[in-house]
Amino acid sequence: MSDVTLFAQVKDPENRPNPYPLYAKLRDTPVSHQDDGTQDGIWVASTHAAISSLLHDPRISSETLPAADRPRTGNPFIDWVVKPIRDRITDTHRPFIFRDPPDHDTLRAAVMHEFTRERVRGLRGRADTLVEDILAKHCNARDIDIVSDLAYPLPVTVICELLGVPADDEPKFHDWATQLATALEPDTLTDDALRAENSRTFDAISDYMSGLIAQKRKAPKDDMLSGLAAGKAPGVPAMGTYDLIATSILMLVAGHETTVNLITNGMLALLRNPHELQRLRDDPARAPRLIEELLRYDPPVQFRNRTTLAEIGIAGTTIPKGVSVVLLLASGNRDPAAFSDPERFDPDRSDNRHLGFGGSLHYCVGAPLARFEAEAALVALARRLNNPRLIADPPPYRPGSALRGPKHLRLSIDGLTG
Ligand code: HEM
Repeated sequence: MSDVTLFAQVKDPENRPNPYPLYAKLRDTPVSHQDDGTQDGIWVASTHAAISSLLHDPRISSETLPAADRPRTGNPFIDWVVKPIRDRITDTHRPFIFRDPPDHDTLRAAVMHEFTRERVRGLRGRADTLVEDILAKHCNARDIDIVSDLAYPLPVTVICELLGVPADDEPKFHDWATQLATALEPDTLTDDALRAENSRTFDAISDYMSGLIAQKRKAPKDDMLSGLAAGKAPGVPAMGTYDLIATSILMLVAGHETTVNLITNGMLALLRNPHELQRLRDDPARAPRLIEELLRYDPPVQFRNRTTLAEIGIAGTTIPKGVSVVLLLASGNRDPAAFSDPERFDPDRSDNRHLGFGGSLHYCVGAPLARFEAEAALVALARRLNNPRLIADPPPYRPGSALRGPKHLRLSIDGLTG
């Protein structure tokens, strides 16, 4: 077995600040077999060509989650009656990021129908206002943590407004989003205390959403949840309650930590490249290019998992049927065969076919929203932070290797301008 420990090193928190040299080594073998302690090991696709090919391959499945198994509570009624029912519901109504066609396509079409241009445009202006409101709380500050002071609160509020969660209930969503983000990391499966906490959170948010859906059915408003509950997409059957709950939770989780990391990685890249910070300050219209480059250079989603439905011959190797495949998107983004001078942060590049939002069937539905939120945050930070300096470089990182980003990004500042 070649490169036995490279992917283990990628997962090692020690390498979280800079996994990119490991990705460069992985690209020596575009699709490699790695020992991860399981019987079959895993297969890692690391070049742009191999990842793109697998993203489009119908022999690959996104149904990678293990069967739902809520931890036992010691209460016989919950353990023997409620738990099996809830586990079964969770298994049969997975969020569509973990489903294959045809179910995936039907659920996604319903969501896309609600992501109207007007709704997204409205949220764009709202993101600017929210950023200004958040920064107003720090106008006399001499230091700021980009993560907890700005990047964390912004996406939850935006998703709540998109779905139609009443403003009074938003604080609950902040706590739920923080907790559920940990469910995506591999350690969650083996840490009983974390599993129990996540399962309580999942049940709490499910109960809340089921009540909210009932309200939206009775008195629809102009929001995404009302639209989904009414089943307005032509030719697409209306979602049942359990799929609506799963979809709402998916929007919250998929759109939260990812956007936090885009804003934070963005600020970090700007501080490490001060001329780019100055250029953004002088010309906010540069923001869209800058954000596309961030999605290439330091993407919030470093990799996604799949399972093979059949044997796949690719890049001189054969991936067997029924094994786990890691699509190392962040490595494809630094592939010299696809990008000129890929290790350079260069918002002016013209060859930016990055994989930061994935590709094909599962391409990110929230991409326009994520771009607006990051633009609102980074433009305001560039304009308003007076003389920002990084307190620690590299900053401390959260443990996650798939959703990767700093835990804190503390800056010293000489106040806020404007
Ligand atoms: C910077 C922020 C974001 C990044 C980097 C990001 C990245 C991604 C990636 C890489 C995928 C593909 C997953 C796969 O192939 O398995 C994805 C899917 C998805 N994203 Fe995002 N995302 C972001 C923000 C958002 C937001 C704001 C929302 C919703 C409000 C959202 C909702 C979704 C959903 C629902 C999917 C599943 C699509 C499907 O399975 O068809 N994302 N995202």
